[in-house]
Amino acid sequence: MLYSFLRPLLFRLDPEDAHRITLRAIGLAYKLGALKPLHYSCPRHVMGITFPNPIGLAAGLDKNGEYLDALSALGFGFIEIGTVTPRPQPGNPLPRLFRIPEAEAIINRMGFNNKGVDALVENIRQSNYTGILGINIGKNFDTPIEDAAEDYLICLSKVYPYASYITINISSPNTQNLRQLQSADALDSLLAQLKSEQQSLAHVHNKYSPIAVKIAPDLNTEQIATIAQLLKKHHVDGIIATNTTLSRQGVAHLALSHETGGLSGAPLTQQATSIIQQLQQHLHDSLPIIGVGGIMSATHAKDKFNAGASLIQVYSGLVYQGPDLVSEIANEVCNNSI
Ligand SMILES: Cc1cc2nc3c(=O)[nH]c(=O)nc-3n(C[C@H](O)[C@H](O)[C@H](O)COP(=O)(O)O)c2cc1C
Repeated sequence: MLYSFLRPLLFRLDPEDAHRITLRAIGLAYKLGALKPLHYSCPRHVMGITFPNPIGLAAGLDKNGEYLDALSALGFGFIEIGTVTPRPQPGNPLPRLFRIPEAEAIINRMGFNNKGVDALVENIRQSNYTGILGINIGKNFDTPIEDAAEDYLICLSKVYPYASYITINISSPNTQNLRQLQSADALDSLLAQLKSEQQSLAHVHNKYSPIAVKIAPDLNTEQIATIAQLLKKHHVDGIIATNTTLSRQGVAHLALSHETGGLSGAPLTQQATSIIQQLQQHLHDSLPIIGVGGIMSATHAKDKFNAGASLIQVYSGLVYQGPDLVSEIANEVCNNSI
């Protein structure tokens, strides 16, 4: 309710300022006890984890894990933080975040702006959050793509003890050549190294943290088949579909659509659902799919579940609908036990 009053004000601000102000306001409200924690209970057992409900916060909104306690009060069944890189980095020059309100869309070319993996770990340690925590890891912009595995391995070992699951982000369009890691040979080699390190870490920490791979929506049917086959081969624990798209279909006529970056929100809904459907045809429930991309309503969420997703995540929908989106989806999904 409140958000429908706030949104016009926030939308007058520069998008990145609005993002920062909103997070700080939620954080402050939580600290002052003005945010009544919401809980939606419809448990799902996925990747060996029991999620209190299947609605998650997608990566990129809280890149450094600075707002875990406050965000958990919004009723999410899980929160994914990051993308985090081994070393801190500023990301791309401003401006790098754009709204296209006519299409309920966002374009971003943030470029993994984050405070580095050590700061993220410290933030987790300082928080009281005890819910399901996904930690999304990537590579620094100046690490050559041939050495990318090393960055993922550094992050994996540092976040491992704190993560309920770890997401390998190989699909951001804003780090040069990152998406090349989705190609067969590169992915085969990366997954072999990550799964071997996961085994060692499981032994050291006496705890198994599942690994999920996050893919782009801009993949053809052959590429999707290859990725699905490699995920099965390496016993990867889950797949997150999808990241933002390079396509401008449906928005090309609108102001700011020419901006470089990844497009998210309503124009991505069908494209992401179609990727989930195709994955499901290859995977046949052999590993779970976390559906994300253009979930702006409970109906969109149901479509993702019907396509084969076991869990879902939201980001742009929160910007356009506000936090009530979580309760709207929970009411629909939990009451009808989809
Ligand atoms: C501003 C912004 C920053 C994002 N940053 C990340 C990120 O750091 N890592 C990542 O895996 N995805 C990132 N994403 C992608 C989202 O997690 C999600 O996959 C994508 O936006 C599609 O979902 P949506 O349509 O609900 O926004 C970002 C998205 C936006 C809009």
